Order: sequence, then C-alpha cells, then structure tokens
Amino acid sequence: MITRKSKREIEQMQAAGDLLVQCHKEIAKMIKPGITTLEIDALVEKLLAKHGATPEQKGYNGYPYAICASINDEICHGFPRDEKLQDGDIVTIDMVVNLNGGLADSAWTYAVGNVDEKGKRLMEVTKTSLDKGIEQAQAGNRIGDIGHAIQTYAEGEGFSVVRDFTGHGIGPTIHEDPHIPHFGLPNKGLRLKEGMVITIEPMINEGSWQSKMDQNNWTARTIDKGRSAQYEHTIVITKDGPLLITDQDK
Ligand code: MF3
Ligand code: CO
Repeated sequence: MITRKSKREIEQMQAAGDLLVQCHKEIAKMIKPGITTLEIDALVEKLLAKHGATPEQKGYNGYPYAICASINDEICHGFPRDEKLQDGDIVTIDMVVNLNGGLADSAWTYAVGNVDEKGKRLMEVTKTSLDKGIEQAQAGNRIGDIGHAIQTYAEGEGFSVVRDFTGHGIGPTIHEDPHIPHFGLPNKGLRLKEGMVITIEPMINEGSWQSKMDQNNWTARTIDKGRSAQYEHTIVITKDGPLLITDQDK
C-alpha cells in the first residue's frame, strides 16, 4: 500500500534520520584497515540502545544483524563478520533506525585506507547518481524520471546499474510500495505525491550489473567479481521539493 505521511509521522521519521546520521558519522571515524564489520555492528547496536532506538533490520524476515555490511563485490545485504577490513577495500554500511516507530534508512559506501582510482571513481559516480535521482523526486514527477536520471548518468560514466534491487516506500515497515527502480524511462510509472516517503539507493557496479545470491540467501554479489557501491537516502516528497531526512550535510 502507498501511504502519505502526516506531519507528525514525518517528524518521527526525521528524529530517526538524525540518529541514523549520527551513526554514519561515528562509522566514518572508525573505518580503517584492521577493524571488522562486526565491530561496526556492535557500535550501532550500542548507539541506538543509548537513544532508546532499535535496529529495524534485525529480525526483519529473519535478517540477523543491525547493519548490512557489503564489501567490494558484494552488492547488498552482506553480513557483518569477524574479518579485518583491508587497505583498499570499499564497504557499504546500510541500516534502518526505528525511533518511537519512526523509520529512516540510509546506506553509505566507505573507503578503507587507500582505494585505487577506479574504486574512488565508482564511489563518486554512485554518490552523484543518488543526487541525480533525488533531483527528480518532485511531486508531480513520475517514478521513471528518477530511474532514468540515475541510469543515464551512471551508464554515461561507464558503470552499470543493478536491476535486482530497488528503492522503496518506507514506513510503517521497511519495505512499502512503491518500488523505485534505479533505471527506467522518463515520464513513465506512478506519479509522486506530497507526503510520500521513499528511499533512493542506487547500487552501481564497475563491471556487469548482474548479481547472484550467496548461500546465506541474503547477500547479493556481482557475477564478475567487479566492485559495487551504494548510497541511500530516505526522502519525503514535499511541495517544496525533496526533503532528505538522512542528510549528513545539514
Ligand atoms: N536497508 C535495506 C534497504 O535499503 C533493507 C534491508 S532489509 C534487511 O532496502 F533485512 F536486509 F536488512
Ligand atoms: Co537501506
């Protein structure tokens, strides 16, 4: 079901978003070669508990952790593990915060130590593709406008767009309608309306867009072992344009 949120619901989601931003800022400080993604998971658990919030992903369809941690060729839903991050890795940390029932969802790709030029470019292009998608998240625009902006830009830069996972409506559960693909045609699909809250979360690959599923039935990775990056924001459609509730720059 597609819902449109009240002012009060949006305020609750914003409070969850503020806490999520705080988590990402702490993670940014701790990322370096030698730490493990299980340590990041523990940090997030602790920070959320301190603020009376809970990690919404944990237990969602049986997902076992507070965060998803997807390294290099892992596209999304990587399990945190007791394995040291290596100099040159890229790692995407994705989480959903629940604070008093308000949800916020945001993923960010971090460079571990010195990442090569191609990897840095992949990260930059992925972040810019998110920004291009957000520009289109306007009341009256259609869902295809978002995907088209992302796909045109990312493919124009020589990268590929993952097809098997999309953005989504969010609240009161993590995944609500509508799906928000990161590829598509302009002026196609559902029209965005004021009060809708969606995620935009392009997963961009350096090689082929195709993915395969790990044995754990959660983690998706590229079929050609190329790296994948991802940035995600939770966004409210307002009459004054897109409002980022997981903005790290305000
Ligand atoms: N945060 C993820 C997303 O952006 C949701 C992951 S659900 C989980 O869609 F169960 F895998 F954590
Ligand atoms: Co997410």
